[in-house]
Amino acid sequence: MKKIGLIGAMDSEIAHYLSEMESTQTETVYGINFHHGYLWNTPVVVCKSGVGKVNAAVCTQTLIDRFQVNQIIFTGVAGALHPDLDVGDIVISTECQYHDIDASSVGFPKGTIPFQETSIFPADRQLVELAVEAGKKMDGIKVLTGKILSGDQFISSVETGKALYEQMNGACVEMEGAAVAHVAFLAGIPYVVIRSMSDRADHSAHVNFYEFEKMAAERSCLIVRHMLNRL
Ligand code: ADE
Repeated sequence: MKKIGLIGAMDSEIAHYLSEMESTQTETVYGINFHHGYLWNTPVVVCKSGVGKVNAAVCTQTLIDRFQVNQIIFTGVAGALHPDLDVGDIVISTECQYHDIDASSVGFPKGTIPFQETSIFPADRQLVELAVEAGKKMDGIKVLTGKILSGDQFISSVETGKALYEQMNGACVEMEGAAVAHVAFLAGIPYVVIRSMSDRADHSAHVNFYEFEKMAAERSCLIVRHMLNRL
């Protein structure tokens, strides 16, 4: 039977799921509350990972090991890097990569994990297709697929954002996706990351972030609802 792990980094990113869930029970592991029950008749475990790569990795590993989820969907907000993206638009991950790993001084390309075959973690095709299909139903919102970059930094500089787009081909930047993707990849669990753009990763990013966080969470919830109905 399908059991979906649904992760958000912040309270606002999981609030909608929690309000719609039924038969919910909560267990706390490593300080993270895992809410298991049903969302629109699908067995789910909903949790707030907290911000950053380690929180996201611990949360994902626990969802897999302790709660036996067999698919993972991460939703939340991100800073747009692709020039076609506006605040409110959506990016569905085709793959995820860390942007802040850098062993280039000892000969490894920036963004690659030394001595590891894979540093770019592909998302599950079926989950990507379902998310794109769901996104298309939302009028006036652009939905792009592409690489999502993650690092333990909130990006708020035009130069950094431009470099991440030009040098690492990121459609958007956030702080958890690649860690979720890495753990899911190692465990052989299908995943997808769905991000609504809260800002343009530039000097006004911090202002836009708080303004659009709520709207973005609502949009993610609509997409997940459609996906769960089709899974
Ligand atoms: N999440 C939302 N906006 C972001 C940004 N500009 N940088 C990193 N993470 C983000």
